Amino acid sequence: MGVLLRGWRERALLTQEQLAERAGLNVRTVRRLENSGLWQPRTTSILLLAKALELNRAERAMLNSAVRGGPAERDDPAVAGPPPVTVPRQLPADVAALAGRERELAIVEGHRSAGTVPVVCVSGMAGAGKTALAVHAAHRLAPLFPDGQLYVDLHGHATAPVEPGAALARVLRTLGVPAEHIPGFLDDRAALYRSVLAGRKVLIVLDDAADEYQIQPLLPAGRGCRVIVTSRRRLTCPGDARNLPLDVLPVAEAVALFARSAGPERVAGAPAGELAEVVRRCGLLPLAIRIAAARLRARPAWGVPQLLDRLAGDRLAELSAGRHSVAAALDPSYERLPAEQRRAYRLLGSFAGTDFDLATAAALLGTTAGRASRLLDHLLDAHLVQEPVLGRYRLHDLVRDHAAALFRAAQSGVPPGRPWVQRAVPLTTVPSCPPVEPGTTVLV
Ligand SMILES: Nc1ncnc2c1ncn2[C@@H]1O[C@H](COP(=O)(O)OP(=O)(O)OP(=O)(O)O)[C@@H](O)[C@H]1O
Ligand SMILES: [Mg+2]
Repeated sequence: MGVLLRGWRERALLTQEQLAERAGLNVRTVRRLENSGLWQPRTTSILLLAKALELNRAERAMLNSAVRGGPAERDDPAVAGPPPVTVPRQLPADVAALAGRERELAIVEGHRSAGTVPVVCVSGMAGAGKTALAVHAAHRLAPLFPDGQLYVDLHGHATAPVEPGAALARVLRTLGVPAEHIPGFLDDRAALYRSVLAGRKVLIVLDDAADEYQIQPLLPAGRGCRVIVTSRRRLTCPGDARNLPLDVLPVAEAVALFARSAGPERVAGAPAGELAEVVRRCGLLPLAIRIAAARLRARPAWGVPQLLDRLAGDRLAELSAGRHSVAAALDPSYERLPAEQRRAYRLLGSFAGTDFDLATAAALLGTTAGRASRLLDHLLDAHLVQEPVLGRYRLHDLVRDHAAALFRAAQSGVPPGRPWVQRAVPLTTVPSCPPVEPGTTVLV
């Protein structure tokens, strides 16, 4: 086996280090395989080497019998090679028309990385339009990636984020690796994934990543691939990956999104100032704008002024339509924080002004400037606090409403951690609620 492997490696003009890198194996494994005919390798390692050395069917059979010391079996993956696969085209549907984002699209599409796989990490608050941007960019880039486009929803902000090993298993099956040939260990799965993608041109969208741990094994090594990551957290992306923080929309693009979503007939005749005020009350957040437009569409009796009135009250309660709601989108961002950061978030929600400095934050949080600064850094990373200018902090309007509601609930003694039972709604919106005394807490 050692003689065979060395011969094929030299034929491929590879050093042991290069072969190890190409196969996604440790260089010591390659050395031991070449030097000791007695050492029994794993089937996965042989499969990876056969692929990296581009062995043909007959050579794979020869290698296999050398490993086993007997004739090759027909269904052995090292002999059979990967089965034929359909080219994956997994991107979800594109948004009908992306509002604005020209600058961001140019960054996602134009990012190059000398000598390594280009990665762009788009981060931003809930509902900012990260997925919409990534998917739109991916559709535009797709023709450059003839070997396919993978889309992996990592559910980073759901109750149960996807384990990287489970994500790899799914992707490997998509790429044609039979379930029974997927290794048990995370590292081996990641190595096989890199091997399968080596030399292929595949675009990979990793949507809603919780953290770096979740995306690291899903990063290919081949330069023909490209990766777009989205996350609500500012991630420390690998190597020279490009970080792209995504802000809310400018007013003009926000109005365009609102008008398109509500339908031109519903906004016809509305003064520009009124439309601008609607999107401002939505905090210029695409998710909130889409929900406000859906509400207007669903109420034929309303005009833009009625929507404006509604948004002047409890905005979070109003910004909910069907299964979409701004509060429900923000809840997981809050719930995933450690207890101390959750407390800091609630306390910042009690601040009556809009922006504040470090000293104010320290006073609000009842701690030292150093501790307050670290807490603010964590909340900045989670896109729950913004720092528009150095040393000045603020909460996005809807985030402030969310944090303030949580603060009030905590003050009123309702147990923390169940924010959905703490949101105040007018009782008229709860049809089956019996008459209650003022001050009574009703759990819906
Ligand atoms: N620029 C845009 N043009 C048109 N629609 C947009 C734009 N940005 C976002 N949207 C729409 O707004 C809604 C929220 O956007 P999206 O789901 O992309 O947000 P997100 O940042 O990925 O949120 P989350 O953090 O919850 O994953 C979606 O319906 C999306 O299609
Ligand atoms: Mg998303």
